[in-house]
Amino acid sequence: MNRRQVLLGGAALAAAPTGLLAQSGAEALTARAADMQLLPAKYGRTRIWGFDGTMPGPVLRVPQGGRVQRTLVNELPQATSIHWHGIRIDNAMDGVSGLTQEAVAPGGRFDYDFVAPDAGTYWYHAHNRSVEQVARGLYGALIVEEPVAPDVDEEDVLVLDDWLIDPATAQIDDDFEAMHDRSHAGRNGNFIAANGVYALTKPARQHERRRLRIINAANARIFELRLQGLDGWIMAYDGMPLAAPQAFGDYLLLGPGQRADVFVDVIADEGGEAHLLAVLDGQGLSQVKFDVTGRASLARRGMPTPLQDNTHDMVRLDGARQLTLDMEGGAMGGLRAATLDGKRLSFRRLVNEGQFWAFNGAIGRMEDAPLAQLERGEHVRLKIRNDTAFPHAMHLHGMHFHEIGENGALGPLRDTTLIFGDQTREIAFVADNPGNWLFHCHMLSHAASGMTTRIEVA
Ligand code: C2O
Ligand code: CU
Repeated sequence: MNRRQVLLGGAALAAAPTGLLAQSGAEALTARAADMQLLPAKYGRTRIWGFDGTMPGPVLRVPQGGRVQRTLVNELPQATSIHWHGIRIDNAMDGVSGLTQEAVAPGGRFDYDFVAPDAGTYWYHAHNRSVEQVARGLYGALIVEEPVAPDVDEEDVLVLDDWLIDPATAQIDDDFEAMHDRSHAGRNGNFIAANGVYALTKPARQHERRRLRIINAANARIFELRLQGLDGWIMAYDGMPLAAPQAFGDYLLLGPGQRADVFVDVIADEGGEAHLLAVLDGQGLSQVKFDVTGRASLARRGMPTPLQDNTHDMVRLDGARQLTLDMEGGAMGGLRAATLDGKRLSFRRLVNEGQFWAFNGAIGRMEDAPLAQLERGEHVRLKIRNDTAFPHAMHLHGMHFHEIGENGALGPLRDTTLIFGDQTREIAFVADNPGNWLFHCHMLSHAASGMTTRIEVA
């Protein structure tokens, strides 16, 4: 794609891969500001930015293998773009401003047109000035349905977020570049909500089975989720089914950008209530309350059968190309100096530049040299060493990877892996999707202050 084509805007780009003319018929997805009642009613309304003026944006649904066609219409005061997180997508449609497309200026449009090859729970979000635009509410769920619907009674799409809001004005804190957020755990909010609703409540029946599609859309928060009056199985992570359903256990950690499909059976009595809880400061806050008003059946169903697998090439660890990523920096880290713009700068100087994190000794930025240039079809293992005091949620665009277990066994396929401080995580994948793929921390303040790189696949 040359610069002129970029300037021509979406129509030309979208037409290129498919050979179609500009589809004026594609439905719009309009990014714009709106006011919504985010906080409890005694507070005022909050100005958000949302797709179609809602937060979360509309739930987009397509069958597996189906085509998503949407025209982004930008009615914001800022340029924007849409990234389709977790989709093994055509690179030109990946929506990364400054990498796979030019940001869409206010008043502009861009036609997104791609096929969704894998069934599962995905999401879309703004990918320009993400720290700000995601914090303002520019995201929504993208659901790719299995050809054969699994055996559940109900489905709940739950987009979780925490908001940094000044209760006096009910407005979103607009210090998006706060040094403390960049250098510590990222931008964490003071108010959490599911689907933008405080105390979301739904009717339920005893013994029914519900599919919870849980999406962590927060800028930085790691959600610790618990069940009450529900008994569940984790069926999929980041859209990709587990070979065997995994008992929910005590809690589930979901880093920013990550998703889980959880099947839950309502075990609370009729007239009682059940909850999906998020633990915040040691306190379990209800994200969804299920009012149990009737009974679906006398007894519960048996164990769920696994979701139908999405076909991936099996990665071979033997002979795989070995890559390493050493992550350093942040507050309470030992980083003394790192490279920025080809110059070696002391940590003090980096702090002045608002940069705090280094990948393999250099401040990681999209415009710098890639972490790796891979041949198409190469098998890769990547060792990520988190030598910082904070957890990070590393997200690879365009491809899913396996987490490798301690014993060398292939763990679940994911697109975002959560790595705690002083932890090392090895991942492995087949570089089967050509393009220029971002690889960054989904704690968005970190991505903007040194934790961004990319992987090129020829
Ligand atoms: Cu969900 Cu590059 O992001
Ligand atoms: Cu991070």
